[in-house]
Amino acid sequence: MRSISIILILAFILAGAIMSNANTGPEKVVFEPTKGKVTFFHFSHQGRISDCQKCHHNGVEEGPCRKCHDGSKAERFMRKTHILCRNCHKTKGLSTSCTFCHKK
Ligand code: HEC
Ligand code: HEC
Ligand code: HEC
Ligand code: HEC
Repeated sequence: MRSISIILILAFILAGAIMSNANTGPEKVVFEPTKGKVTFFHFSHQGRISDCQKCHHNGVEEGPCRKCHDGSKAERFMRKTHILCRNCHKTKGLSTSCTFCHKK
């Protein structure tokens, strides 16, 4: 299976910087699938959605989604992401068009 490259450099730097504080996660996560780059503003989503478990369904301590969502332990992250992200955006009346998330 083709591996999807995901840039977490910024995320790691930030995670490191705040590690001493609390495990609040990265400011943003940049995914780079072939369909087009997706910038997920984690901090701003945290601000809007106070319940971390809406996304971190097993608890934040379980670590990154892709630890499990690799296509063997659980369904690939891409598929789950589309369902989770788009369903919520839909209920909030936001656009579900591809280019809302995927930028060239
Ligand atoms: C809208 C969905 C969403 C919400 C809400 C959310 N996160 Fe995340 N979070 C993510 C995604 C997606 C990643 C990237 C995971 C990956 O790279 O596989 C992530 C990554 C993280 C990471 C770094 C990777 C890890 O799991 O160790 C931490 C820490 C984290 N989030 C903490 C939190 C905390 C604390 C809250 C609540 C205050 C929260 N998140 C709310 C989606 C969310
Ligand atoms: C410790 C392992 C683990 C981690 C970490 C994890 N998941 Fe899951 N997730 C699972 C399993 C197992 C299932 C159910 C089996 C399946 O659907 O493949 C699941 C199911 C889901 C579902 C479908 C829920 C439903 O009701 O159908 C979504 C959406 C999802 N995960 C998103 C995420 C996101 C986003 C993250 C990171 C913020 C994450 N998961 C982190 C293991 C994990
Ligand atoms: C539980 C609800 C919810 C989930 C889950 C969610 N979002 Fe959002 N998202 C929002 C809301 C609310 C906005 C705010 C739009 C605004 O302020 O105009 C937003 C805005 C955005 C934006 C526009 C830029 C920004 O941050 O304002 C992008 C891109 C985005 N989301 C990507 C994602 C991705 C990728 C995921 C899945 C990893 C995701 N979202 C999961 C609720 C959600
Ligand atoms: C709410 C945000 C969002 C929307 C809307 C969205 N996507 Fe995605 N898409 C993502 C994220 C996040 C990933 C995961 C990237 C990863 O796992 O590295 C992804 C991954 C993909 C991939 C995987 C590409 C690869 O390289 O494996 C394809 C294909 C894709 N999306 C197509 C679409 C299409 C077609 C639409 C419109 C019908 C769409 N997406 C709408 C967020 C979104």
